[in-house]
Amino acid sequence: MRLARRAERIEPFYVMEVAKAASQLAREVARSASPMIFLNIGEPDFTAPPLVQEAAARAIRDGRTQYTDATGLHALRERISGWYRERFGVAVPASRIVVTAGASAALQLACLALIEAGDEILMPDPSYPCNRHFVSAAEGDAVLIPTTAAERYQLSAAKVEEHWGPRTRGVLLASPSNPTGTSIHPDELRRIHGFVKAKGGITLLDEIYLGLSYDDTFGHTALALDDQVISINSFSKYFNMTGWRLGWLVVPEVLVAPLERLAQNLFICPSTVAQHAALACFEPESIAEYERRRAEFQARRDWFIPQLQAMGLAVPVVPDGAFYAWADCADAAQRLGVEGSWDFAFEVMRRAHVAVTPGRDFGHADTGRFIRFSTANSMAQLQEAATRLEALLR
Ligand SMILES: Cc1ncc(COP(=O)(O)O)c(C=O)c1O
Repeated sequence: MRLARRAERIEPFYVMEVAKAASQLAREVARSASPMIFLNIGEPDFTAPPLVQEAAARAIRDGRTQYTDATGLHALRERISGWYRERFGVAVPASRIVVTAGASAALQLACLALIEAGDEILMPDPSYPCNRHFVSAAEGDAVLIPTTAAERYQLSAAKVEEHWGPRTRGVLLASPSNPTGTSIHPDELRRIHGFVKAKGGITLLDEIYLGLSYDDTFGHTALALDDQVISINSFSKYFNMTGWRLGWLVVPEVLVAPLERLAQNLFICPSTVAQHAALACFEPESIAEYERRRAEFQARRDWFIPQLQAMGLAVPVVPDGAFYAWADCADAAQRLGVEGSWDFAFEVMRRAHVAVTPGRDFGHADTGRFIRFSTANSMAQLQEAATRLEALLR
């Protein structure tokens, strides 16, 4: 069967090969003294807190399960607006908030609404692989620009200017980033946006990990800069609702109607049950629980990263958010007699029963040296993983 070019251009998600191999091995070693530890998974190990679960059950019991507006329940858009006001001190009217089936649908809508075939979108290398595929699915070209530790693995205004060409339409940044957990400095972002705006381009910010920020220098939404910035967010990470498929984006007023038309036709609406449940995320009791969990993520980072550094898995930039560590494994790989992060990940999986994600999916520049650890696992599991890695690499 002849595939459309846009489908052919989507690269395989190599991480899934690692995940499949890890699950297979996990079954084999489940009853051994050393069952598999999964540090490859990019989702919180917590589930939705009690009030959220109860709100979902109530919505189902009461039969509140019909389609909603394509842009989401008005009450939920209001709650999200309130969250921006209370948490970030930024006024974002509910009318500019479009609720979607996760950040993934939000990114799809934004790309379909704004990108013409052949338009270029500048992105940092490394970055979350699906984001460049949303660009390709809209028939645009994602241009990956290699970044350095000194740049916190983010684009700089100078690099954006250097790579801006006649076909460039804008930038797509994630802050904090997956796989590095590092954020773009607010001053640099202001410079980037100033340049992009002057070029008549678009600044797209994936802020899905913003709720999980641990450093006041970086924990601000880009929406504070300008109402022309497009921000993508989600209930998946801070709100611990990955499989519920709920997110949102904030757009300039003129984009709401076109996005609504697209959303009506492509999705009808986001999950109604998930939306009713998400209303309870903003209750003080739920927020208190989310903040307790955020502190737990921070404590894991604070404990685990020095362990990695001590065993020669250098983390060049301490993450200021999310639950990842981007570690250079070149020396450690040599010690194990393998080359590159792909083989290193498989070696660690086979010999220590610790699953990690090799850098390959996240870009092309330096990803052969790096692996991504996820600290979205209990402190006990992180401690056991560190003990096994230390013994292996000694
Ligand atoms: C940077 C980034 N953007 C977007 C997504 C997609 O998230 P969602 O579950 O909201 O679709 C992820 C998921 O891991 C991510 O890491």
